[in-house]
Amino acid sequence: MKVDGKHYRSIWLEPDGWSVGAIDQRRLPHEFVIARLTNCAEAADAIRSMLVRGAPLIGATAAFGMALAMHEDASDAGIERAYQTLIVARPTAINLKWALDEMRAVLRPLDPSARAQVAYARAGAIADEDVVINQGMARNGLALIETIAARKKAGEAINVLTHCNAGWLATVDWGTATAPIYLAHDRGHKVHVWVDETRPRNQGASLTAWELGHHGVPHTVIPDNTGGHLMQHGMVDLVIVGTDRVAVNGDVCNKIGTYLKALAAFDNGVPFYVALPSPTIDFNISDGRQVPIEQRGGEEVAAMTGRTADGRIETVRIVPEGSPVANYAFDVTPARLVTGLITERGVLKPERMALAAAFPERMASAAE
Ligand code: MRU
Repeated sequence: MKVDGKHYRSIWLEPDGWSVGAIDQRRLPHEFVIARLTNCAEAADAIRSMLVRGAPLIGATAAFGMALAMHEDASDAGIERAYQTLIVARPTAINLKWALDEMRAVLRPLDPSARAQVAYARAGAIADEDVVINQGMARNGLALIETIAARKKAGEAINVLTHCNAGWLATVDWGTATAPIYLAHDRGHKVHVWVDETRPRNQGASLTAWELGHHGVPHTVIPDNTGGHLMQHGMVDLVIVGTDRVAVNGDVCNKIGTYLKALAAFDNGVPFYVALPSPTIDFNISDGRQVPIEQRGGEEVAAMTGRTADGRIETVRIVPEGSPVANYAFDVTPARLVTGLITERGVLKPERMALAAAFPERMASAAE
């Protein structure tokens, strides 16, 4: 996607051929800063500190982290150390484990002298594959948007509500939930996006609004508790969100607050779609209760960071000193509330049979 006319991915191999560049998402929307990752520990820290975030990008960063590790130490012990360093960086997005398992399986059988080159090639391929997968989701999701567009009067906008940032910043490019939106917009459909601010870290207000704005997609940022009201008044045609992990029964784990949007959508007959690349499906868990839910520091809830009128970035406390806070980062939306799963292999029913039929090779390797 473009930033001020220049094409960027969210992560890339630097021209030196070994270090890794990434957009520092902690600084957006106020500052566009590029970070350079030079070793495995820095890659793990980038994931932990949310310099990079979003399930597919966490996976791609972990893959590059393994490549950086092979640049430092390509021994068998080096592979294991890198795996263990990266796997604990964040608990919920299964893409992290998927990417690390992929990398380890490719690297282990090789002679150490060959590992670094192969690791960079596989990490680059994982990044490239993410872009292709997202373009597939864009095409499959576009059909849903076009069905709604066909029912609209001339000039009427198609209103999509999304939560958190499942945009190109959360992936390598295009995004998951935003991929169909970008394609519809590029094809000339009049799409308008309701952007949930997504407390406490405000990924919607800070990141989704920023990237939609840079691509010229009309959007409106709303407080998280506004969606239900909009749905009651016919102001949302469909909801599209991303996910960090989908269980085999179609339960969907995503950013905290997604479940409440799904309930409101269900009550108001608004279609609720989840866009996901296949690495986000966890074929090893039968339902969403088995997803580890990340709990983050209370300061994310108790304080807010923003830019002052004179341009300084300031953090201010908004909760009384001494009041306890809780910060569950994700929740699970039961499959019964999900209209469909937008994947690179079509729009699927959120159920075991449909996932197994669409991704038989993943189902088979999980059973091994
Ligand atoms: O905590 P984050 O910002 O990593 O959470 C991101 C989300 O919840 C996204 O919706 C999800 O990863 C899907 S990304 C395409």
